[in-house]
Amino acid sequence: MATSEPVVYLNGDYLPQSQAKVSVLDRGFLFGDGVYEVIPVFGGKPLRLNEHLDRLQRSMGRVALQNPLTRDEWNEIFQILLEKNPGADRSIYLQVTRGAAPVRDLSVGPDVQPTVFVMVNDIKPVDYARLENGIEAITVDDFRWKACDVKSVSLIANVMIRLHANELSVTDAVMVRDGLVTEGTASNIFMVKNGIISTPPDSECLLPGITRDLVIELALANGFEVKQRDIKQNELDAADEIWLTSSTREIAPVVKLNNHVVGDGVAGECWKKIIGVYQDYKQELRNG
Ligand code: PDD
Repeated sequence: MATSEPVVYLNGDYLPQSQAKVSVLDRGFLFGDGVYEVIPVFGGKPLRLNEHLDRLQRSMGRVALQNPLTRDEWNEIFQILLEKNPGADRSIYLQVTRGAAPVRDLSVGPDVQPTVFVMVNDIKPVDYARLENGIEAITVDDFRWKACDVKSVSLIANVMIRLHANELSVTDAVMVRDGLVTEGTASNIFMVKNGIISTPPDSECLLPGITRDLVIELALANGFEVKQRDIKQNELDAADEIWLTSSTREIAPVVKLNNHVVGDGVAGECWKKIIGVYQDYKQELRNG
């Protein structure tokens, strides 16, 4: 992105980022009462745009928030912002909150207008040599609520868990609820054992990741066996490979978990194949 100030969208206006202001009474600010999406963009083309907008719609439905914009209106905002913020690979961040009511009250009348905010960020090109080195993680009790399938801006639990991991000098945490693995603090989880790829099934305990679905699709298309099934925490100890997936991180191999080496302690053979087909997919999107 150019060195000039980024242009963002706020409630109908395109503004330099420093001029975009929301009320201190905004329910996103006061209560974390809002939902969001992060959509990666390669070669100017959003990856899985419809799926991201479908998930936005689902999140809004779950929190009884009306989508203030049609799909065409969202697309128009994205196109204008991508033009106003030129760059290579980028991501679109959008957020809709329940808006600013006249007083701070959990209850809210129907006439409060949602706040719509959209910005474009650079995605640092993934350094594959570095990615291949893998990351370290710990397992942590998943003390979040039973609405983790909502892409809510209320991320305080994720922040607490991530900071705990960082305090222990590891990159991330894998969360575990009632002995079953759920997801990373900002990613979904996969494990590989004897060539079979497994990931926890969709439920209210994890976000239905767009990258997760794409990885499943690409793995199946490339002849891998993929199981969406419950994964017990202790299965991770014997896993050949563990990956964390997200729109911004892509597919990150975890090479150490709770200070124990995962598999051979390096990115595994399945990861190498899947990251390859994922790159091809991105390249086709750029060229398409
Ligand atoms: N987060 N689970 C959680 C809790 C997440 O926050 C994310 C992504 C994912 C992966 O979803 P996807 O593949 O659709 O990116 C799973 C985004 C990237 C973020 O908060 O920045």
